[in-house]
Formats: sequence, C-alpha cells, structure tokens
Amino acid sequence: MGPPVEAPFSPGSFVAFLSENIWLSDGRRLTVRPIQPEDAGLLIEFHERLSPQSRYLRFFSPVPHLSPKMAEYLAGVDFVDRFALVASADEDGVERIVAVARFDVAPDDVVAEMALVVRDDYQGVGLGTAVFGRLLELARARGIRRLTGSVLAENRGMLQLLRNHGISAGQAEAGVVQFGIPVDDPPSVMTVLALVARLQRQRGPGA
Ligand SMILES: CC(C)(COP(=O)(O)OP(=O)(O)OC[C@H]1O[C@@H](n2cnc3c(N)ncnc32)[C@H](O)[C@@H]1OP(=O)(O)O)[C@@H](O)C(=O)NCCC(=O)NCCS
Repeated sequence: MGPPVEAPFSPGSFVAFLSENIWLSDGRRLTVRPIQPEDAGLLIEFHERLSPQSRYLRFFSPVPHLSPKMAEYLAGVDFVDRFALVASADEDGVERIVAVARFDVAPDDVVAEMALVVRDDYQGVGLGTAVFGRLLELARARGIRRLTGSVLAENRGMLQLLRNHGISAGQAEAGVVQFGIPVDDPPSVMTVLALVARLQRQRGPGA
C-alpha cells in the first residue's frame, strides 16, 4: 500500500484560499467557503429550515431530519475524493448555512456526482448559480472531466439553472432526469457573457 493521499492544501489554508464574500441580487451578503467537519450541527439546522418540497427535490424522498451521523458524513469531506462548499449568512449575529454544493469523485477519477441545495428563502436570487459556478471551478481544478447528477423532471429551478449553463437534460425515466456536464469543454460565448453579467451583479456596488 502506498502513502496516504493528502489534500493539496492544509485544511486552514484551503478554507482561506477558497472563501469569499458574495452579494446576492437582492443585496444580501454571504460567505462562500469549503465545508468543515465543525459544520455538522449547522447542516442539521439548515436541513430543518428547508421546506419539505426542497428536501424532496434534493434527496428524492421526504428525509424530514438529518441524523447526526449523516451530518457528520456530509460535513466530513476530504477535498480529495469528496468536496463541498457552503454559503453562509450572518443572521442576527449567528452564522447559518443557506446553501450547500458538493461532488463525490467516482473511482475512475474523472467523473464526479454533484448535488446542490439552497434554503427556500434564498432561492431565485442567483445563489444556486453562484455556488454551482464555484463548484464547477473546483471540479475543473481537481481534474474532473464530467460532473453528473440526477434531477426530478418536475424540478424547474434546477433544470433552468442547467439550461443557463448550456446543459440540456435527457429524457426522464421514472420521473428522474440524468445530466452530465463536460467540465473542460469551453462554454459558449453567450454562456460566458451571461455568467459574467450575473457575477458582476453579485459582486455588488464598488466591486
Ligand atoms: C434548484 C436550486 C438549487 C436552484 O437554486 P436557486 O438559488 O433558486 O437558483 P438561481 O436563483 O441561481 O436561479 C437559477 C435559474 O433558475 C430559475 N429558477 C429558480 N427557481 C425556479 C423555479 N422554481 N421555477 C422556474 N425557474 C426557476 C431562475 O429564474 C434562474 O433562471 P434565470 O437566470 O434564467 O432567470 C434551488 O431551487 C434548490 O435548492 N431547490 C431544492 C433542492 C434542489 O432541487 N436541488 C437540486 C437537486 S439536483
């Protein structure tokens, strides 16, 4: 057996390197950063604050609560084979997670499966697009060639987000659509212009 695989950065520098403030189209400020093992409790609370509909769209089943074991697993990524970013808000002096984006690398090392969820009161103002864009960059940096995922055919928000990135989902089977995003293919000029315009709006005044 060879030496253990290590993450490319120490956890502290990795978090600092990838943390940034963003501004939503409605003016709210958030921090996007890598998830940390200490976030398990915040993940449980985040899940409790999701609507049943959002939980269902994310997990394809009701999942009313996140168990501590599950939260520990979701927060305990290694940034080698499992990656996750969170967006967090300062709500009355308390840090709360309001979005999570993740991918798990497949054994072939070039495909990764992704998932994304935004708290209901932050949906529809560009946050999903913002964390998705950063997840794509992270996947590209990791050498991933294709991000895959499943989405319920009724999930208009996620399907629109994918369409905005030039990804048209395939045929639904049993109500579920599979999608694949070629990570290293350059996006079309139109897609880049649309994304740049969105990012500029998010960076807010004076950026
Ligand atoms: C899907 C999801 C991640 C999108 O995040 P979001 O922050 O709401 O997305 P954005 O605000 O960046 O919007 C992305 C696009 O989707 C559109 N959109 C968002 N919600 C929509 C809805 N309910 N119906 C139709 N379009 C919608 C937006 O208008 C935007 O398109 P536009 O820029 O062309 O106007 C979020 O709704 C969510 O977490 N849903 C529950 C969990 C889930 O479905 N996860 C995905 C499982 S694969």
